[in-house]
Amino acid sequence: MTETVSIREVGLRDGLQLVETYLPTETKLSWCKEEAAAGFTEIEVTSFVPPSILPQFADAAVVLGGAQEIGGLLPSVLVPNLKGAIRALDAGAKKISFVLSASEAHNQSNVRCSTDASLTMFRELLEERKARELQDTVQIAGAIATSFGCSIQGHVPETRIIEIAAAMASAGADEVNLADTVGYANPRQVSRIFEQADTVVGPVPLAAHFHDTRGMGLANVVAAYDTGVRRFDASLGGLGGCPFAPGASGNIATEDCVYLLENLGVNTGIDLSALLRLRAKLTDWLSGEEMSGKLLLAGPAKTFAPNCPVVMTGTHT
Ligand code: COA
Ligand code: ZN
Repeated sequence: MTETVSIREVGLRDGLQLVETYLPTETKLSWCKEEAAAGFTEIEVTSFVPPSILPQFADAAVVLGGAQEIGGLLPSVLVPNLKGAIRALDAGAKKISFVLSASEAHNQSNVRCSTDASLTMFRELLEERKARELQDTVQIAGAIATSFGCSIQGHVPETRIIEIAAAMASAGADEVNLADTVGYANPRQVSRIFEQADTVVGPVPLAAHFHDTRGMGLANVVAAYDTGVRRFDASLGGLGGCPFAPGASGNIATEDCVYLLENLGVNTGIDLSALLRLRAKLTDWLSGEEMSGKLLLAGPAKTFAPNCPVVMTGTHT
């Protein structure tokens, strides 16, 4: 039987937090609609941060509301603290990713408190969900930034990542996402850390979030896939990076990630041709912004046979 994976688009959040261009709300929603039509079932659509810090997300509640009207799509949102989480719950979010950093130095830089203080907020968020009786309707994911190293602090002890993953799972997380925020991971390290994490999270699914800062992103996807990970984040055009981590740059490109996994015989459920058409539009929407991703330039190989059950109408031969 063909294996399936879920690729979550994070360009609207991770990508847009690092670009200069303000993308109008309507364009953000067009992006969501086109990706949903191409087969995406989850998109991280925005971030509930103070607009004074990231003006790109001043329209967070409107984007979330619009995305929630798109059939078949689960729009998720990122929150950096309890205040953001409350805003997201008030706006009706059905999936919230709470981010903290395994690196103390990055947590201080990113969210201005200790990692333990963030973890306490994460537990408070789960309590808040319970108080609102939303356990069955709102998913809460724990995202652990700098799980593979930090550009401020350097080494991040693997035992610390595993400890946080275990704490999040036992607090009631619906997913634990290990993120290589600054592109420090290598495939062996990815295998080791995901294998260890898997032993402490019980039935809670693990997700992987890789940046391609040093060209290791797709190799890391394969390594994580081989340990059993079936949830991957990726960003259209490889946009992205944390504004509060020096040297951070783009995520793995969604289009290249889909192509990789389909080539490996895995069903992503995504129509690659439709995705490439959207990718071309993104170049116009964000003209002047740096993007990556090889597939738009080269096109799929003649021999490429997707596992996704759609008719390929590729523009390249
Ligand atoms: N959304 C909107 N407003 C928020 C908020 C949120 N998520 N969190 C805090 N605020 C407001 C507070 O209400 C307060 O407002 P006031 O001055 O009018 O009373 C003000 O911001 C300061 O609140 P405080 O809790 O002291 O925040 P802080 O100054 O310690 O900053 C963060 C903490 C998390 C808000 C800030 O570091 C941040 O936004 N970081 C961005 C992280 C990020 O998005 N990184 C990239 C993705 S990993
Ligand atoms: Zn990221």
